[in-house]
Amino acid sequence: MSYNNILSDHQNGITTITINRPKKLNALNKATIQELHDAFDAADNDENTKVIIITGSGEKAFVAGADISEFADFNVEQGGQLAAEGQELLFDFVQNLSTPVIAAVNGFALGGGLELAMAAHFRVASSNAKMGLPEVSLGVIPGYGGTQRLPQLVGKGRAMEMVMTAGMIDAETALNYGLVNHVIEIEELLPLAEKIASKIMRNSSVAISEAIHAINANYEAGVNGFNVEIEAFGNCFGTEDFVEGTTAFLEKRKADFPGK
Ligand code: COA
Repeated sequence: MSYNNILSDHQNGITTITINRPKKLNALNKATIQELHDAFDAADNDENTKVIIITGSGEKAFVAGADISEFADFNVEQGGQLAAEGQELLFDFVQNLSTPVIAAVNGFALGGGLELAMAAHFRVASSNAKMGLPEVSLGVIPGYGGTQRLPQLVGKGRAMEMVMTAGMIDAETALNYGLVNHVIEIEELLPLAEKIASKIMRNSSVAISEAIHAINANYEAGVNGFNVEIEAFGNCFGTEDFVEGTTAFLEKRKADFPGK
């Protein structure tokens, strides 16, 4: 598939999706959101893709937010629609993919950019990264899940402060808050994400999908995550990966998972 606003590259089990509008600091316009949806969907359906990495092009920005020029004249109805469509097409979609998604945050991750990073399953950041939800400085609030995912990751008080001040935190603070898992120099960022991805790839992809589903259940209103875990655990017993994993252990050899 060819794209205008993003790049998608597959190597050794990893699909790396790069948002590629560096002149606009990779801001998320409608077309980019649609292309990201398509690229994530294609990668998730590609049996050779075991891990997806999402990053931004250039050394300045991961994503500097939703494209402000596109919604500056929206009314109440259009505003609500923008958030609803974006959440469905990209942010909830990414969170619920069965393929692990790592966000490699390579600079500014603001507004929709931080929301995209937070929708990924976990995040690594370069030491120059800056993160924040500045929407209230524009007279609006985060609309791509930021008010929900930020407190899940950093706690309610820190989320309240970040949203109310519209301020940015640096990478070390984000690490300290638990918003990102690792901080590293920018040239080492993708190699680190790939190293983590290769560790993930040694394990059963079907078990990992069940685990993502069960962990996400903890954050769904009205869903009993323990019950979801019980069902997901049971599902694993019907897979070829389970047979291979347990047999390999008992035979004292490395498992070679078929991913089924
Ligand atoms: N939407 C649309 N365009 C954006 C953008 C966004 N969220 N963020 C940056 N851009 C554009 C700028 O308009 C500028 O375009 P131009 O060269 O055609 O004028 C270009 O990207 C470069 O940005 P600029 O502001 O000149 O870079 P900077 O280094 O001075 O500042 C930021 C960097 C990130 C601090 C600043 O761009 C910014 O505050 N962006 C908006 C962040 C935001 O509020 N995001 C939440 C949106 S809901």
